[in-house]
Amino acid sequence: MKHTVYWIEGDGIGPEIWKVTRPVLDAAMKAATNGEHEIEWVELLAGEKAMRECGTPLPQATLDTLSKASVAIKGPLGTPVGGGIRSLNVALRQTFDLYACIRPVSWFEGIITPVKHPERVNMVIFRENTEDVYAGIEYAAGTPEAEKLGDFLRSEFGAAIRAGSAIGIKPMSEAGSKRLVRRAIRYAIDNGLPSVTLVHKGNIMKFTEGGFRAWGYEVAREEFGDITIPEKEATPENSKGKIVIKDRIADAMFQEALLRPEQYSVLALPNLNGDYISDALAAQVGGLGMAPGVNMSDELAIFEATHGTAPTAAGKDIANPGSLMLSGALMLQHMGFAEAARKVQNAILAAVADKTVTPDLAAEMENAQAVSCTQFGEILLKKII
Ligand code: NAI
Repeated sequence: MKHTVYWIEGDGIGPEIWKVTRPVLDAAMKAATNGEHEIEWVELLAGEKAMRECGTPLPQATLDTLSKASVAIKGPLGTPVGGGIRSLNVALRQTFDLYACIRPVSWFEGIITPVKHPERVNMVIFRENTEDVYAGIEYAAGTPEAEKLGDFLRSEFGAAIRAGSAIGIKPMSEAGSKRLVRRAIRYAIDNGLPSVTLVHKGNIMKFTEGGFRAWGYEVAREEFGDITIPEKEATPENSKGKIVIKDRIADAMFQEALLRPEQYSVLALPNLNGDYISDALAAQVGGLGMAPGVNMSDELAIFEATHGTAPTAAGKDIANPGSLMLSGALMLQHMGFAEAARKVQNAILAAVADKTVTPDLAAEMENAQAVSCTQFGEILLKKII
């Protein structure tokens, strides 16, 4: 049986990491399903390749296909210089309302990290992708827009805004917050995870971030009341088999992530907090090089390597394909092929344990042997049985 996956090669190191990733994902599917299921890869153009072939970085044909698709995976896309598009990644997120950015973070044994116990970190981050101060509603200091908005807020609401200020708006809605938390709770249920933590700055930003917290608890109570319990009401007896809903103020969460990471499992966060914690947690387990990710709406999931195009590494066969492969594993899991996903993850774990890794990882390990991107792919293929 064939399962269609749309793929975007990406710029910079994109072609190199794809060349080794596809055979690994195909081999894992074959091994896990005795050859009964396979991926039918359909390429979509975006970025520099699309520019070369169609004269635009994001062709309409790509958008049309994605609007009917359910699963896609992409390499990194550079930001076009001088084009009309701010960022292709942002354009994809906005066009398809990919409201949840999901990033699992855990440690690969052998990778040197800045903390003593990276093995205690095993979290899945759900970051809201469409609202908050990242909505792009911002006016530069001294512009007529900023002056007009400042005047309005001062005269109508008595807001204390210094003259000549730049002004940004932070919209956060009940619907936007609830759909993100709903997805985080569903993930915890599907994967048998013990808790979902709402991370917010509701102590200061009471209606936006505080709203996120309140709406999060509301969706847990109203839609998952039988399977969740708020931390405040939880006892060892009444929380058995239930998902504990916690909340933490964002600054405290950064401390918790370092001091007591084992107490946290799924995190649900508004856009800005989510952005910060994604990189902080990735650093805690050894960097972004091996971090998988996906941006999702209710219809479409676009899995992606979380790093950029690494222009200085491009064309040298030294790039680390781990992030794209692990995103591929996440995709296989999402498509219902958990065993195939595990095979990819285990092969990478084994290669790291053997200390045969690409130069970026070898530099972070003791006595490791640096291998090329191509060799790394060949090593993984041998480990998938
Ligand atoms: P970057 O992630 O490309 O590079 C940062 C550093 O990490 C560089 O030293 C690079 O060589 C190294 N690196 C990254 N991925 C690697 C890999 N797989 N193997 C080995 N080394 C790796 O970030 P940078 O330089 O800020 O961005 C370059 C371009 O990528 C920009 O045009 C940016 O807009 C784009 N970008 C795209 C993203 C996406 O498509 N999701 C995400 C981040 C940046």
